[in-house]
Amino acid sequence: MSISTLAVIGSQWGDEGKGKITDFMAEQADVVVRYQGGPNAGHTVVVGKEIFKLHQLPSGIIHRGKTCILGNGMVIDPVVMQAELKELLDRGLTDDKLFISDRVHLIMPYHKKLDELEEQARSGGKIGTTMRGIGPAYVDKISRLGLRAGDFQNENALQAKIENILKIKNELFTKLYGVPGFTMENLEEECLPAARRLIPYICDTSILIDEEINKGSKVLFEGAQGTMLDIDFGTYPYVTSSNPVSGGICVGSGVAPSKVGTILGITKAYTTRVGEGPFPTELKNPIGDKIREKGREYGTTTGRPRRIGWLDGVALRSACRINGFGYLAITLFDVLSGLEKVNVASAYSHEEGTLEHFPANLHILDKCTPVYQEFKGWDDDISEVKNFQSLPEAAKNYIKGLEEILKVKIALISVGPRRDQTIVIFNKLFQ
Ligand code: GDP
Ligand code: IMO
Ligand code: MG
Repeated sequence: MSISTLAVIGSQWGDEGKGKITDFMAEQADVVVRYQGGPNAGHTVVVGKEIFKLHQLPSGIIHRGKTCILGNGMVIDPVVMQAELKELLDRGLTDDKLFISDRVHLIMPYHKKLDELEEQARSGGKIGTTMRGIGPAYVDKISRLGLRAGDFQNENALQAKIENILKIKNELFTKLYGVPGFTMENLEEECLPAARRLIPYICDTSILIDEEINKGSKVLFEGAQGTMLDIDFGTYPYVTSSNPVSGGICVGSGVAPSKVGTILGITKAYTTRVGEGPFPTELKNPIGDKIREKGREYGTTTGRPRRIGWLDGVALRSACRINGFGYLAITLFDVLSGLEKVNVASAYSHEEGTLEHFPANLHILDKCTPVYQEFKGWDDDISEVKNFQSLPEAAKNYIKGLEEILKVKIALISVGPRRDQTIVIFNKLFQ
């Protein structure tokens, strides 16, 4: 049996351009699967003059005829889902090949309220979450107090389940936080009808994906967030509550590790981060401001200005190891044009020596300073360059330098948001 699957995974702190690259590769795919995260994701896809901002639906939905799957590892907000679907249907796209896992957990209004209350309670140590209820929904999944899409297929059992959940949650709201709790009527008004509208899309998506792989379909896994936001490998506790890394594909979609093919890491040509938390290569200076404006670095989901920094080769080296990247796609490369010099952190210097891999302990990270490898900049606008050879020498040297630092081949270079602004070095990515 020949397996043809590809994963698109963020290697930094999110917003690497996963949506653009997923859309680009989806042309070759039959099936596109999301396996973790929820409406905290904001994936922008530009097709000609049209802009699509996707939060929960896989970016493959923009290509007609592709099967799109929301895997069990996601947490779905049914109200956001309704709005997202309506917008796409209004714009002439279809949902006839959309499937949602019966095991997926649903984000309820009390999760969003808890996200807000927990952030306030953290006072000085805020995470800067997207306030979409992500963390509290995953907490309920792990503490076995969650509502799954499949629960909506049995209305009687559902009512009893929700009543039990509300009994426990309302203790928290009223006794710990001193705010009113939620009633069944609240939920009926705010979200249960939207959740019931998901029923026609529900199935056992693990079986569906396996059948597709076995019959030779090309399956594309679309990661959300990024490796440095991973609950295990990111800058804990300044992370999201799921596993964006490639290991998350298996548990998040019910696919065996032996059926996950090429892993493509997506990396901006610099670094951004939204929300709080450590950022060793952060540029709080006019160069950072210039990159933010040129790259239009404002959050797709929350509109917050993104923090900007030089490319962090240490974080990337760790991402290459953890995910097993076969290739990298470098995105937003056009944004670097016009800088006199471009830096890449190739290591961190620490009082006890040099670090080549990202440390788990933030106290160690605090004492690290990036060791930069300096590259000559280039002035030319590269946003319409179609092949590697036509790039300015300095830009080519930067790409070659990255391959040397990271020891991973670069397969794609994105020089603008559109599909045709993609330099293809190696295109046989589906394995
Ligand atoms: P994602 O969350 O990883 O899908 O990334 P986002 O969509 O949140 O952020 C990436 C932003 O950069 C979007 O606005 C894209 O349209 C845009 N973009 C993607 N690739 C490029 C590129 O190569 N150059 C430029 N200038 N913009 C890009
Ligand atoms: P995409 O898929 C960038 C960040 C939030 C916050 C932390 C925790 O578009 O790359 P959460 O709401 O998940 O509990 O917030 O994670 N964050 C993202 N940052 N891109 C994202 O998604 C993100 N999703 C969450 O800003 O720091
Ligand atoms: Mg994004």
